[in-house]
Amino acid sequence: MSTKFELKNLATGKTTQLDVMSGTIGPDVIDISHLTRDQGVFTYDPGFMATASTESKITYIDGDAGVLLYRGYPVEQLAEKSSFLEVANLLIYGTLPTKAQLDAFLNSIMRHTMVNEHLLRFFQGFHHNAHPMAMVSAVVASMAAFYHDSTDIHDPRHREIFAHRIIAKLPTIAAAAYKHSLGQPFVYPRNNLRYCANMLNMFFAVPCETYAIDPVAAEALDLLFILHADHEQNASTSTVRLAGSTGANPYAAISAGVSALWGPAHGGANEAVLDMLDGIGSAANIDKFLARVKDKDGGVRLMGFGHRVYKNFDPRAKIIRGMCYRVLEKLGKSNDPLLELAVRLEEIALKDEYFVSRKLYPNVDFYSGIIYSALGIPPSMFTVMFAIARTAGWVAHWQEMVSDPHKKIGRPRQLYTGPTQRDYQPIEKR
Ligand code: ACO
Repeated sequence: MSTKFELKNLATGKTTQLDVMSGTIGPDVIDISHLTRDQGVFTYDPGFMATASTESKITYIDGDAGVLLYRGYPVEQLAEKSSFLEVANLLIYGTLPTKAQLDAFLNSIMRHTMVNEHLLRFFQGFHHNAHPMAMVSAVVASMAAFYHDSTDIHDPRHREIFAHRIIAKLPTIAAAAYKHSLGQPFVYPRNNLRYCANMLNMFFAVPCETYAIDPVAAEALDLLFILHADHEQNASTSTVRLAGSTGANPYAAISAGVSALWGPAHGGANEAVLDMLDGIGSAANIDKFLARVKDKDGGVRLMGFGHRVYKNFDPRAKIIRGMCYRVLEKLGKSNDPLLELAVRLEEIALKDEYFVSRKLYPNVDFYSGIIYSALGIPPSMFTVMFAIARTAGWVAHWQEMVSDPHKKIGRPRQLYTGPTQRDYQPIEKR
């Protein structure tokens, strides 16, 4: 039975019937697209607290139950049984690939790992201490100037080449940014290596000695990437959709997503967690730090805690926490003081009334930085790692939006509170 909402303007008595749309799971949504035409009003929802910006078939989150599904598959199952590139394929194409489909996808990604030599020269223009996210965002946007032969967004084959290209090249671009910051020579991709092993090689190999890729590190990266691959309409994904809705070049849309991800309230949180742990220093200082967090005037947040959607444990945080112990043990770093401090901080915060009453739990980023750190990746690169993983989700959402025959440019409205109309005053009269 279809439900309807009735909205009545109590001043005029005029009513509007609003259709209710049901998804396959999750809360129903009220279709307000005719509201302005019928009632002459807009809805107001800063921060999209109660607004579904789109219909999507890609990822489902139940924030109260701590559930995350990619194309219907629980993230826990994918983390245990799948690989990052298989998950990327699932997100983009909608079903788990057959062996032949997966092989073809892996082969295509492998064949697109190199970037145009001229694009690589861009890095020479950046200052040595440029933040890697600034370099990555700029170079990804610049890809629009190089690969315009395959960016007819109305051609499904062009869209597919773009999707494979950006997923394949982002690790190469990230590694170039890292090598630039170190002043080391760039290491070219090696297509006989798997995705994450190749990335580690591009990050850490140097021409003067042999670099042995640690399979534990490659496996840990792959798992982190699965967990970061998509998260429905988060800020960066919504940014990619909004930029892409104008028909913009897809590389420009992904670059907009990289920029949005950079903020400390979003993907920049993993870097901020490490800064925070460094600042706290030792377990003896936790109480003092939490007192500053709870004092609202201090403007300090417990980074890696809280989430707009999860009001229960972030399921990714649970997996990462377990993985953190395993990885550090395998790498012989189980006595890592940062891990000990993080565990103690989590323990104390989870018992503290401030965090309990606000349903603030550790999110995906509370432990991811500790793992990246143990793998030798510096904090300034953490958000770049996140961007590499999230590219799979951005591409899937961009594809879904662009191939929707009913797509519309994203164009929110506003509640205007500025001056009403007034006349221009000559400068001598102001
Ligand atoms: N530390 C201290 N207090 C917090 C925190 C935190 N990390 N997060 C939320 N709160 C408090 C707020 O002060 C507010 O308290 P109040 O009701 O007394 O005013 C209440 O909890 C609700 O917080 P909001 O900011 O309204 O929640 P919102 O959903 O807008 O924010 C966010 C979510 C941005 C993630 C927030 O929890 C935060 O800043 N966390 C720290 C940064 C972080 O870890 N970001 C990563 C998110 S995961 C990701 O993007 C991959």
